[in-house]
Amino acid sequence: MTHASRRPPTYGDRYVDQVAVVTGASAGLGAQLCLDLARAGAIVIGLARNEERLDELRAKLQDASPPSQTVVCDVADTDALRAALAAVVTAHGRIDILVNNAAQDPGIRLAEITEADFRRTLDVNFFAPVAATLSVLPSMLARGAGIIVNVSSDGGRLPGPGPGAYPSSKAALSAFSESTSFRLRPRGVRIYVVYPAFMPTALGVGALQRGLRKPPRLMVRSVKSVSRTILAGIGGSSLEISASKLIDAAMVFRFLMPRLFARGRKYW
Ligand SMILES: NC(=O)c1ccc[n+]([C@@H]2O[C@H](COP(=O)([O-])OP(=O)(O)OC[C@H]3O[C@@H](n4cnc5c(N)ncnc54)[C@H](OP(=O)(O)O)[C@@H]3O)[C@@H](O)[C@H]2O)c1
Repeated sequence: MTHASRRPPTYGDRYVDQVAVVTGASAGLGAQLCLDLARAGAIVIGLARNEERLDELRAKLQDASPPSQTVVCDVADTDALRAALAAVVTAHGRIDILVNNAAQDPGIRLAEITEADFRRTLDVNFFAPVAATLSVLPSMLARGAGIIVNVSSDGGRLPGPGPGAYPSSKAALSAFSESTSFRLRPRGVRIYVVYPAFMPTALGVGALQRGLRKPPRLMVRSVKSVSRTILAGIGGSSLEISASKLIDAAMVFRFLMPRLFARGRKYW
């Protein structure tokens, strides 16, 4: 790593006075994105369920960006989610950036998982981003501008062994992002789909504790570095924002040698 790359990133005035909503703001990548957006000059509204952690975040956000706020909201309750987004528009006039980051991994073995567990996972990881996107789209399209960032997972494009609820939800989110981007980009609304690699957050560590093999170092990223990658990628022309080039290479390997890939994929 060069010395220059350790300097705080600068995004010019790209985020100054932008109204940004981030779901899953109380921890991990979402909390880091909120802080980085606020420090870059955005007005940030962070949504999550844990009120105590949101209170801590709000104090830090308001140091950097006084109008920023946090809102207690279970995104699976899409009525509450839509109401929270409407309240942001009432308070700030618009939403410029929506980051659908909240997610859960049920962490239940194939032998025990139920259809209800699948539905809950899809509610949080897929239907909530869909509901939030559909809610902000009309005004973004009317303005001919807007940014929607959907945080997916490499599990959605390279599923590993398991019951498949989490990867299925992320594959659906990636497909939703790609399909809609064709129609929305020409009209000024940019959708991005993020592949963060492995981050040692509650979600990531939980997967390791349940038996996920420790990913190689080139697939491990800190929340700080993924947040930086996302904020640098927003505004660019690529749909996908990928934190690990090694995983991008694995996609090519799977395409060229699917059977060999499947044999290896059982182990990581
Ligand atoms: N960690 C990894 O290795 C990894 C890899 C690939 C992709 N990702 C993706 O990266 C994103 C961030 O994950 P992370 O690793 O930062 O996870 P994390 O540290 O576990 O944080 C998850 C966040 O989502 C919120 N959340 C969960 N369910 C919610 C709900 N029903 N309503 C509202 N908020 C909810 C949690 O807050 P509350 O509990 O307060 O609600 C928390 O703020 C997720 O989309 C995840 O799928 C992570």
